[in-house]
Amino acid sequence: MPADLKMAVIIASSRPQRVGPTVARWVHEATAERERASYELVDLAEQNLPNYDEPQPAASGDYTQEHTRAWSEKISAFDGFVFVTPEYNRGIPGQLKNALDFLYSEWNDKAAGIVAYGSSGGLRAVEQLKSVLGELQVATVRAQVSLSLFDDMRDFSQMAPRDFQAGNVQTMLGQTERWAGALKGLRQGSD
Ligand SMILES: Cc1cc2nc3c(=O)[nH]c(=O)nc-3n(C[C@H](O)[C@H](O)[C@H](O)COP(=O)(O)O)c2cc1C
Repeated sequence: MPADLKMAVIIASSRPQRVGPTVARWVHEATAERERASYELVDLAEQNLPNYDEPQPAASGDYTQEHTRAWSEKISAFDGFVFVTPEYNRGIPGQLKNALDFLYSEWNDKAAGIVAYGSSGGLRAVEQLKSVLGELQVATVRAQVSLSLFDDMRDFSQMAPRDFQAGNVQTMLGQTERWAGALKGLRQGSD
């Protein structure tokens, strides 16, 4: 069966020496055998988004900046997302909130799974992210991947996930693909 869903694995951290890309590559490798969807890494650090600088709210779709149009075009192409996010001060990184705020309709009626990591598994960032995604009309799945810097990484820099984490990732991907597929039908007006 050809993959009919196009998904993004979004790297939410952007600081030097971040572990975000290491976690995201582990997630991306776990998508290799997925039949229904293809997955592309999208690094927020490479999107060149400044602090939100549009005169009109994103829901207007009235974009004046080239970087907004480029970000819009990129996100429009995806049916769903896997956000790979750390927890910063009990929340999501500012640049992830900023990147979400830049757009509106491009996120609507799509699905998302979340892979969180941090000293304590990143779950407080997850709750905040789910709240923001709710406003953007992104359906977040129940299955959760929560990685501890102490228990799932070596030296806080290399992946050494506990055995059950691989299964958690596949469950999260499966749920995200199911909802992404259903919502793709909705966006196309077929249900
Ligand atoms: C500004 C900042 C705030 C942090 N706050 C938290 C926190 O509230 N909870 C937590 O579990 N870890 C926290 N951490 C630890 C991060 O989860 C850890 O450094 C992780 O590697 C950050 O992801 P990154 O390397 O991809 O940037 C914080 C790290 C930074 C840089």
